[in-house]
This record gives sequence, structure tokens and C-alpha cells, in this order.
Amino acid sequence: MLNIAIDGPAGAGKSTVAKLLAKQLNIIYLDTGAMYRAIALKAIEQGVDVSDTDALSVLLEDTDIDISYVDEQQHVLLDGRDVTDIIRTPQISDGASKVAAIPAVRLKLVELQRRIARMHDVVMDGRDIGTFVLPNADVKFYLTASIEERAKRRLEEMRAKGYEHSLDDVKDDIRARDKNDSEREFAPLRKADDAILIDSTDKTVDEVVEEMLPFIRIASIKGKT
Ligand code: CDP
Ligand code: CDP
Repeated sequence: MLNIAIDGPAGAGKSTVAKLLAKQLNIIYLDTGAMYRAIALKAIEQGVDVSDTDALSVLLEDTDIDISYVDEQQHVLLDGRDVTDIIRTPQISDGASKVAAIPAVRLKLVELQRRIARMHDVVMDGRDIGTFVLPNADVKFYLTASIEERAKRRLEEMRAKGYEHSLDDVKDDIRARDKNDSEREFAPLRKADDAILIDSTDKTVDEVVEEMLPFIRIASIKGKT
């Protein structure tokens, strides 16, 4: 199986680039962040504190997360309900970052992520894919960009969806999540030693994809020999 890992902070372009790569390589794309978002949604809907380890552990016992693909688009199923579209709010982003610090949450989701990688050629993006989920991935990328640029990208996306936010608010949100994600004890966000570092601050999406493709070609040739 060809396993490609892409990690990095919020707004670095991971999901945009991963989707394009998956399309070009004709393999699946797995957005692991969507799984953490789905857990956060359930906690918020049920009035459970997203930082309460014990309450979340109980909630998890009764929670089913699954992934399906419709027209090559990933859908996230929370207890059988398609929540793909409603997990993209700033409130859920913040909640996801909090539930993601709880080891029991991570272990449950990582099991599903590894199972998918064993069965399919996949481009997987997240925070701990190269360091923890798939330490033996065929190729690993760490994609980053300046905080200013990442906040601008997020703001544009929100505007396109009709939401108005200030650049400072978006920047604060991203900064807080970067901090949570990189300072947590269990599987924090960090570059794997063997990951290829790409700074996308001054690059277009296509330029990033072009930079990645040669590494993937080499890795897939190696994998076949
Ligand atoms: O997944 P991640 O949070 O890392 O980022 P994303 O959801 O892919 O969002 C990145 C946004 O920046 C998208 O709207 C892209 O079109 C845009 N962008 C990019 O991803 N990469 C660049 N090199 C330039 C812009
Ligand atoms: O697209 P964006 O970068 O805004 O966020 P995301 O990839 O959907 O992830 C939402 C949150 O889930 C992140 O801030 C992390 O706290 C968490 N996450 C994680 O801890 N590990 C992953 N493999 C993926 C996401």
C-alpha cells in the first residue's frame, strides 16, 4: 500500500494539497481532522465539556465514527449521521483541538486511521500522521506557512462562505490551536525527523503539489522493489 502523510498547522494548505494529490494519483484522501471535529460536535450537542477526560471517555464508548466516499468526496458519519458539512465552524475547530488532547479520543480514531491505511493507498493529513499514526509511511511531508498567510487564507475561505470575521480574530484562533496542538503531551504536532519540510507561504497550491510529486514517485518506485 502507498501511504502518504501530510502534517502541519491549521491553514498550511494540507487538505487542499492532499485532495489534489489523491486525485492525480487516483488514491483516496483521508482528512483525519474531520474525525476529531465529529467527536467535538457530539460533545457540544450533548452538553459535555470538551476538556473533561472522564466525561469524554464515557461518551466515546457509545460513539461510532465512520468514513465513506461519495463521488470521491469524504463523508464523516457520526453514529450513522452524515455530519460532513456542519463540522466546519470556528466553535467546532476549537472543540476539536480540545478533544484531540485526550489520549482515549486519539487512540480510538488512530485505530480507524491505521485500518484505512492498511486497506487502501491513501494520502492522509493531520497533525500526528508522520510521527504517530503512520510512522512507516512511504513519504512524509510537513507543510507550513507563516501565521499571517494562514490566517489570510482562512479569512478568505470564511468570506467565501458568507461569514464575516476580523483577521485578528482568525489569527488568534489559529494561534491558540497551534499552541494546543503542539504543546499537548500525547502525539503533539511536530515535524517527523524524516518528513520533507515545505513552506507554502509564497507558493501556489499547484507549486506545492509539483514540489511533492517527485518525492512520491521515488517512494512508490521503492515500495514496488
Ligand atoms: O488543511 P489546512 O488547514 O492545512 O489548510 P486548507 O484547509 O487546505 O486551507 C488552505 C487554504 O489556503 C485553501 O483555501 C487554499 O486554497 C489556500 N492555499 C493553499 O492551500 N495553499 C497555498 N499554497 C496557497 C493557498
Ligand atoms: O483544517 P484545520 O487545519 O483547521 O483543522 P483540522 O485538520 O480539521 O483539525 C481540527 C483539529 O483537530 C486540530 O486543530 C487538531 O487539534 C485536531 N487534529 C489532531 O489533533 N490530529 C489530527 N491528526 C488531525 C486533527
